[in-house]
Amino acid sequence: MEATQTYSPGLEGVIAGVSQISQVNPDLDSLTYRGYDIRDLAKHAQYEEVAYLLLYGELPNKSQLETFTQKIKTQRDLPAPIVTMLKALPKESNYMDVLRSCVSLLSSFDPQAQDSSHEANLAKATRLIAKIPTIITSSYRIFHGEEPIQPDTSLSHAQNFFYMLRGEKPDAMTTKIFDTTMILYAEHGFNASTFSARVTASTLSDYYSAVTSAVGTLKGPLHGGANEEAMKMLLEIGSLANTEPWLMKALAQKQKIMGFGHRVYKKGDTRAPILKVLGNELCNQRGDSQWCDMADKVEEVMMREKGLFPNVDFPTSYIYYMIGLPIELYTPLFAASRIAGWSAHIIEQLDNNRLIRPKSIYEGPKHREYTLLEQR
Ligand SMILES: CC(C)(COP(=O)(O)OP(=O)(O)OC[C@H]1O[C@@H](n2cnc3c(N)ncnc32)[C@H](O)[C@@H]1OP(=O)(O)O)[C@@H](O)C(=O)NCCC(=O)NCCS
Repeated sequence: MEATQTYSPGLEGVIAGVSQISQVNPDLDSLTYRGYDIRDLAKHAQYEEVAYLLLYGELPNKSQLETFTQKIKTQRDLPAPIVTMLKALPKESNYMDVLRSCVSLLSSFDPQAQDSSHEANLAKATRLIAKIPTIITSSYRIFHGEEPIQPDTSLSHAQNFFYMLRGEKPDAMTTKIFDTTMILYAEHGFNASTFSARVTASTLSDYYSAVTSAVGTLKGPLHGGANEEAMKMLLEIGSLANTEPWLMKALAQKQKIMGFGHRVYKKGDTRAPILKVLGNELCNQRGDSQWCDMADKVEEVMMREKGLFPNVDFPTSYIYYMIGLPIELYTPLFAASRIAGWSAHIIEQLDNNRLIRPKSIYEGPKHREYTLLEQR
């Protein structure tokens, strides 16, 4: 390696691009989307508004939001062959694998699939924002022996997800809390899945290929898969009394505790306290504090033993559980939110593209003489 070149394992601290979409500032405990504080967006906005902001760079006015929301509402349907394919899949299929495959297949049904212009990619982004919840709910229902429920154009994005999953409209509190999780999951700079989307886009491959890469990257438990693993952990722990002993044993065995730690936030994930408040509201409303008490204890032990803060996935895990969402859908739901951020990044990458192609340090064998096959 040349003296002027530096290598950072996992690309930690490496600046890999320029972006105008979001800013993570751990020192100031700040996360902004297009300059707007995430706390303000979580409090006042709804997911559709935030998706528009990420895609178009500005908050929509009433009529722009109405048009955008209408486009989402009317494009939720899946092409019939995709539903047929879902019915043919093994019922044990992993939902992130199913989502990845369906996103990939949707390109065959999109007349604009090979058009990588800014406008075409915005149109495709709106379609995928609309269709991903339908893929998730349809696959879940089909794998559980039920027919998919057709989307309801009178319902918001958050309400319609619950409706397509269970056939019932959620109450106002569930809708607001779920919508807030979607806003907080919508975008987060050059995280692993967004970066993989940008790498794929940078080769001038198409929008669907870039999103397919992102879905595959999000699946891993070190990234989006952590929300499912965190809830499985809480269920395995099972009680407040068992929380500290369970954690001490796991930490002694050098296990990673899912939903804790972060590559960028070393003094706490800006999103986690917003979600913790919502979790507490749910516990209070239900008069059952089990998950909140256990979460407090996990946080206390992790801080004391490892100095680690919860990340966005920890409070989201028990919030999703309390609002009745199946655990195996937590990571697909992360994708259903992050599609807005991924799409904004793919479009931004293509607006000012340069192939992303880093180098590596070679540590393999030095020059070796080739031996003919018969002599080996
Ligand atoms: C997010 C994560 C991948 C960041 O990784 P990273 O920046 O590469 O940091 P490292 O994994 O190198 O961790 C640094 C140290 O903290 C420890 N650590 C980090 N996260 C930990 C966790 N969740 N549980 C226990 N120890 C953890 C590591 O073991 C390591 O300790 P060591 O130096 O003694 O080996 C990591 O914190 C993690 O695996 N967390 C759990 C998965 C998760 O919640 N992912 C969602 C992220 S939003």
